[in-house]
Amino acid sequence: MKNFLIIGASSGIGYSVLNNLIKEEQISITATYLSKEPILKSNKIEWIQFDATKQSTNQLTNKPLNGIVYCPGSINLKPFKRIKKEELLNEMNLNFFGFFSVLQMHLENMKHSESASVVAFSSVAVHKGLSFHSLVNSSKGALESLVKSLAIELAPNIRLNLIAPSLTKTPLSEKFLNTESKLEHHINNHPLKVIGDPGNIAEMVSFLLSDKSKFMTGQSIIMDGGFSL
Ligand SMILES: NC(=O)c1ccc[n+]([C@@H]2O[C@H](COP(=O)([O-])OP(=O)(O)OC[C@H]3O[C@@H](n4cnc5c(N)ncnc54)[C@H](OP(=O)(O)O)[C@@H]3O)[C@@H](O)[C@H]2O)c1
Repeated sequence: MKNFLIIGASSGIGYSVLNNLIKEEQISITATYLSKEPILKSNKIEWIQFDATKQSTNQLTNKPLNGIVYCPGSINLKPFKRIKKEELLNEMNLNFFGFFSVLQMHLENMKHSESASVVAFSSVAVHKGLSFHSLVNSSKGALESLVKSLAIELAPNIRLNLIAPSLTKTPLSEKFLNTESKLEHHINNHPLKVIGDPGNIAEMVSFLLSDKSKFMTGQSIIMDGGFSL
């Protein structure tokens, strides 16, 4: 039996990850949501309401874990001169400290696994550099550094990798894609003439959680339709 913990499985990419995982045999998933009542019910899933910004020190599960996927994130764009320190702290809470706490809380759960895998989300903007992205890039950049550092500290039993997507069609990106002209603009910005599909990103998560990626750790995998090039 394999056990996984998905933080933020009620919508967007996390929901696609959950949909992929429950197709597997011999699997149990602890899945969290924040505001959306979960629609996907299965005896393989235990749903828990959880706010990652509260940084609780309670474990969400006491099962041995084969992997953790941390999905919460933000796209708050703002000119640097208008950013208040409080806003940066909120970003850090969600993108960085939330992951930090979840991982620390569940290290013991992964201790006995020979090859546990942790997946978190960065953003293509960290790799490219874009105007008005300093809030998200500061917090995702810190997350990338933490993951790289822990990939060494927690090896060989725990592998950690990130996915850095470009604009992907989820509730988070809705405000950037909610008219035909915005959608067309963003599609045209991508050399492959597509925006991200959560199901496609979830396929990469499945790969990173599986032994097929057992030679990979500490990597940030850019999935961006060629945008960063
Ligand atoms: N979508 C994009 O264009 C894009 C681009 C680059 C990077 N990313 C990154 O990819 C990751 C997944 O993004 P997404 O688009 O799938 O996001 P999403 O649609 O907003 O889904 C986020 C999930 O996390 C949960 N969540 C939100 N705030 C939380 C909190 N404070 N504590 C615990 N759970 C919380 C949400 O729960 P509820 O739905 O129940 O509230 C939901 O299940 C994020 O880290 C994001 O930064 C996304």
